[in-house]
Amino acid sequence: MAEHESLEFGKADFVLLDNVSLEEFMANLKLRFEKGRIYSYIGEVVVSVNPYRAMNIYGRDMVEQYKGRELYERPPHLFAIADAAYKAMKRRNKDTCIVISGESGAGKTEASKYIMQYIAAITNPNQRAEVERVKNMLLKSNCVLEAFGNAKTNRNDNSSRFGKYMDINFDFKGDPIGGHINNYLLEKSRVIFQQEGERSFHSFYQLLRGGPESLLRSLHIQKDPKAYTYIKVGGQVKSSINDGADFKAVADAMKVIGFTTDEVHTVYKILAAILHLGNLTFGVDGDVILIENPKVVSVIGDLLSTKHDNVEKALLYRTVATGRDVIDKQHTAQEASYGRDALAKAMYERLFCWIVGRINDIIEVKNYDARVHGKNTVIGVLDIYGFEIFQNNSFEQFCINYCNEKLQQLFIQLVLKQEQEEYQREGIPWKHIDYFNNQIIVDLVEQQHKGIFSVLDEACMNVGKVTDEVFLQGLNGKLAKHAHYTSRKLSPTDKSLEFDRDFRVKHYAGNVVYSVVGFIDKNKDTLFQDFKRLLYNSSNPVFKAMWPEGKLRITEVTKRPLTAATLFKNSMISLVENLACKEPYYVRCIKPNDVKSPLLFEHERCRHQVEYLGLLENLRVRRAGFAYRQTYPRFLQRYKMISEFTWPNHDLASDQEAVKRLLQGCGFDHDVAYGKTKVFIRTPRTLFSLEEQRAAMVQRIVVFLQKVWRGTIARMRCRRMRAGLVILRAYRRYKVKSYIREVNRRFKNVKTMKDYGRHVKWPMPPKVLKRFEEALKNIHSRWWAWTLIKGLNPEEVLQVRAKVASLEALKGQRADLGLQRAWEGNYLVSTRDSPDAASSFTLVSGELQRKDKFMRVLFSCNVRKINHFHKAEDRALLITDRHLYKMDPLKQYKPMKSIPLYNVTGLSVSPGKDQLVVFHTKDSRDLVVCLQGMLPPAESRIGELVGAVLGHFKSEKRKLQVNVASPIQCSMNGRKCTIVVETKINQTQPEFTKGRSGYILSVPGN
Ligand SMILES: Nc1ncnc2c1ncn2[C@@H]1O[C@H](COP(=O)(O)OP(=O)(O)O)[C@@H](O)[C@H]1O
Ligand SMILES: [Mg+2]
Repeated sequence: MAEHESLEFGKADFVLLDNVSLEEFMANLKLRFEKGRIYSYIGEVVVSVNPYRAMNIYGRDMVEQYKGRELYERPPHLFAIADAAYKAMKRRNKDTCIVISGESGAGKTEASKYIMQYIAAITNPNQRAEVERVKNMLLKSNCVLEAFGNAKTNRNDNSSRFGKYMDINFDFKGDPIGGHINNYLLEKSRVIFQQEGERSFHSFYQLLRGGPESLLRSLHIQKDPKAYTYIKVGGQVKSSINDGADFKAVADAMKVIGFTTDEVHTVYKILAAILHLGNLTFGVDGDVILIENPKVVSVIGDLLSTKHDNVEKALLYRTVATGRDVIDKQHTAQEASYGRDALAKAMYERLFCWIVGRINDIIEVKNYDARVHGKNTVIGVLDIYGFEIFQNNSFEQFCINYCNEKLQQLFIQLVLKQEQEEYQREGIPWKHIDYFNNQIIVDLVEQQHKGIFSVLDEACMNVGKVTDEVFLQGLNGKLAKHAHYTSRKLSPTDKSLEFDRDFRVKHYAGNVVYSVVGFIDKNKDTLFQDFKRLLYNSSNPVFKAMWPEGKLRITEVTKRPLTAATLFKNSMISLVENLACKEPYYVRCIKPNDVKSPLLFEHERCRHQVEYLGLLENLRVRRAGFAYRQTYPRFLQRYKMISEFTWPNHDLASDQEAVKRLLQGCGFDHDVAYGKTKVFIRTPRTLFSLEEQRAAMVQRIVVFLQKVWRGTIARMRCRRMRAGLVILRAYRRYKVKSYIREVNRRFKNVKTMKDYGRHVKWPMPPKVLKRFEEALKNIHSRWWAWTLIKGLNPEEVLQVRAKVASLEALKGQRADLGLQRAWEGNYLVSTRDSPDAASSFTLVSGELQRKDKFMRVLFSCNVRKINHFHKAEDRALLITDRHLYKMDPLKQYKPMKSIPLYNVTGLSVSPGKDQLVVFHTKDSRDLVVCLQGMLPPAESRIGELVGAVLGHFKSEKRKLQVNVASPIQCSMNGRKCTIVVETKINQTQPEFTKGRSGYILSVPGN
């Protein structure tokens, strides 16, 4: 259904032909070929005509045009079908395969290479190194396989002489991660013999024409192919092949793929050894067989890393086991030649299989775990030898043509037979389209007991002398009545068949006359055990690996190996099984002429191919048939979102009804048919349109799903948070409760504790109770203080007040507050400070009490003060609740001067250890004294003095400023001055001296 191509190029899809007739089909094919349109479609089958010229249609730009497009969107191309297979694999997780068929030289191998290139080009957008490596290996392996497996034939300069099925494995992202190559029956007879005009495998000519001098010398070979019996026929053939350049390309490719230098060298040695083998000739001397050119034997021994004696022995003798004895039996010259050729063929075949094995080792998917990497899907590409008819057709052609029969049968099964059967099964009105079913030919070849292979195997099993003629007689006996088999014996008038030599099979693609000569030998494929042992015992490890069964001793080899025909049949059956379980895509190649001309469209040739490929039937089925079918439930599952009747679920009587409604709604009713269990869609366009609508809806569904899912997630999160909160709250309550319970427990007996609970360690509160704990501690402290205070007498109460006052005023500013000791206050009455003078002081203070009527002495102490002459004098200080008195201790404490307490505005002390105190007065006549004469001498009474005076002021609710400073600012006799405290070592008592801006108090510093 390809558009974008004008009709001048013919119809891109044969389905569009006005009439389905062979004439119109051929006319369209020819027109397109002549206009340079080598690809056409029959629905999804690509028909390709070999252009025999370089076409500029495989470049990067073309790849881009086809990438991700649907089949009908672009003109027909291999890339389109490769993309379709790739999409099916990626979208639907399907294993797919691309089956390329057509006769020899029709362009199968080229097509398989373009398909590989396309797949390589569109994958790995992220340029992963590993994927690039795999792709490179897959592409490079082609070059090596062609060198060893392809040869020039009369039909094709690069004819594949082996079958190749390559699986490419993809990861879930659709990137190639590895592959596997299956090779089928190599035409090894070509190693020893080629028909006129043909060549042996490319590898031999490449080595001779491209190998460097030194290499050839080390292999003891010369450049001229004519020097070697096995390949000299092909040596004269002219062709466009550039063996020299190919040699280098293949050597490079082997290196890239990972063959070691030793391995590559061994490959050359094998090729050289085969060439030398071909030149060996045998003669007889009396009864003894000998090799006429023994020098060659030593060269071969050298190349095979074995002793030349052993080589010679293996060529001339055969070890046979008779009962328990083992004897060496001498060959006849004929047997020896047979053995030599068998060895050459087997060595080449093993070499080829070993190369494929080595490539597989390297490209194999490694470390793939489906659970981690997702499903591993496969695209298989089958490029197998095409149907061929030669002048002389032998066992190989028979196998090759059988293979093509099998593939044709698969095509018929999938495209023609199953399709029509399905329409009938589903009750779709259908007019049967006749086609030729070649199952009968397949059976002719492979059927048990009756088939040609069976007869051949039977003949080979016979003991005694079995000849090819015996085999032919067997065929004639068994197949005399078969419509597709004949021989001269069965049709005596047919001169094209030789008596006792030929038989003819009517293949789907034409009649082929096979000559039975060599069938028995080729089927038995005998290689004397001696050769296997010879090569197994080579000191070259590659040979050892190629010939593992050489390990067995002669007496251990009992089982008859499977015949070549059976092996081939089995491999074909498993190949077809493998293909049948994949979604197939077909490329049908047509060879326009026999002379490799880009211009010639030989009508007869092409018509024949179109006929036997069943293209016309294919077209008829296609035109009458349906491009797509699906069971109703699965169809609904995929497309139900398109229609409101079916989304999200339909309530119609059946899925079939629902599908009908859906398709009617889209306006596709005319293009579909409803079967019993499946819906059939005629044109791909309808399907693509459904796909498009689906893709558009899927986006909306995805958004919808996202929305629902996001909501669900949010709700889940919210529920979890709420639950968390409940737990949190319960936990907090528990923590608070247990804290309070613990506090209760610890402080239960607080009243009876000696220290009223001061020593009790508070439990750790939870964070929320941090402030509560502070408050609790505060309450406890207050209660504790109150409990302590309430038992005190009035005298003690006063002392506590004084201490509190002192603490409040000086805390943190002076260290030695003396809070720990009892504060006596009136020190001069005690005999501690002044043992001699206490009585006179008591007398004087009594008189003053009477005179000034004070209630209580706040403080008394000996001091040192500065007099008017800036000199220090010893005095005593008495502070009552009314006055502050200075007294002369030398004159029985005669009062000198009194200052009424209400005149005192403040006190200043230093932060040091000294006992300096300044009483600030309203009239700026501050009193500066330093307490002294304490016992013990280090006792500090500054804290007590401040506390006593301040406590008293507080009780009278009067203010008193207390400063802690150094130096201390004061006013003496109205003049401002400072008092600096200095410590002096070696000083015994405090001393005042005049300083620059006031006075310096020097105190003993120790
Ligand atoms: N698409 C193509 N473009 C150009 N030449 C082609 C193309 N396909 C085939 N040929 C030519 O035809 C020859 C034979 O093709 P090949 O693929 O080897 O055939 P087959 O594998 O079917 O036997 C190639 O060597 C090449 O010269
Ligand atoms: Mg090929």
